[in-house]
Amino acid sequence: MRIGVLTGGGDAPGLNAAVRAIVNRAHDYGYEVIGIKRGWAGLLEAESEPLDIHKVEDLTGEGGIMLYTSRTNPAKMPKGVEQCLVNIKQIGLDALVAIGGDDTLSVAEKLYEAGARVVGVPKTIDNDLSVTDYSIGFLTAVSIATEAIDKLRTTARAHQRVFVVEVMGRYTGWIALYAGIAAGAHLILIPEVPFDLKDVYAFLKKRKAANKVFSIIVVAEGAKPKEEDSLVIKKAEKDQFGHAQLGGIAQVLEKLIEQETGLETRSVVLGHLQRGGPPTAFDRFLASSLGVEAIELVRRQKWGYIPVAKGTEIVPAKLKEVVARRKEVPLELYEMAKTFFK
Ligand code: F6P
Repeated sequence: MRIGVLTGGGDAPGLNAAVRAIVNRAHDYGYEVIGIKRGWAGLLEAESEPLDIHKVEDLTGEGGIMLYTSRTNPAKMPKGVEQCLVNIKQIGLDALVAIGGDDTLSVAEKLYEAGARVVGVPKTIDNDLSVTDYSIGFLTAVSIATEAIDKLRTTARAHQRVFVVEVMGRYTGWIALYAGIAAGAHLILIPEVPFDLKDVYAFLKKRKAANKVFSIIVVAEGAKPKEEDSLVIKKAEKDQFGHAQLGGIAQVLEKLIEQETGLETRSVVLGHLQRGGPPTAFDRFLASSLGVEAIELVRRQKWGYIPVAKGTEIVPAKLKEVVARRKEVPLELYEMAKTFFK
């Protein structure tokens, strides 16, 4: 059995650990693993490299991804999906493991529907893939953001300032919510719950009046005020999966808050720092377990399936269900977070 493996979309800490697990489990069964470079871009160009256990030996704690990644979408190219099918044959793959978020996995599902023998692995720091409780990279991003907010807290207090900290999360506020609660933010703004700017100003003034000398607001990049329907968009061009590049809401809030409240305010955009460096122990463990289970799905010929995290277990799910909708922060969880907005 010859198994191809690729990773697509934004990188996420833990990807290398997943590849290492795939290669190791495949080795247990005498299967050969072929790395496809740069996600779907590499498959379109049949760019591959044999992987053996020596190549992946020291990868469990490595950030980034040794296979490289891209945001190429074959479904947006004339005959792109067909070309992938042709190249799967040309490389001689009996199966393909696609590691990715909703974009990469939606292409995997298309290939499966077109007859390819595909399984998935869930990764995205945004944690917005449905069915799975956690995706590779999310809790590392949360740890990085938490540590950053802890550091900003000391300088915020020293200068008695308001800090607006922007974290990633285009459509969902998972990182904002988890890191915000973990780091003791005073207010968390997420895309799922449009906020009222007047409430934000009133909240900050109330804190100041109560002698709370500094405030930390954590905002997801995709959060939007009720008053304005548009997102803050950094670049108008969309990527091949139709996503605009976001970023900048923290700077907008910084200016508005200073103007409307008179409180000295600073903003920090954590950006790609959240995807950099080594994965946490949890992400290494999660990626290793998911990688092993992906090969188990291949062995059992469960095409069109993906291992997902459910509680403390890894169970199989249909790729189609995982990509069918986005997993948003439940309103009850946001209500729980409000207990800390004081
Ligand atoms: O992969 C998810 C993500 O990190 C989002 O949170 C963010 O909006 C986007 O990727 C950034 O994309 P890029 O790395 O292409 O700038």
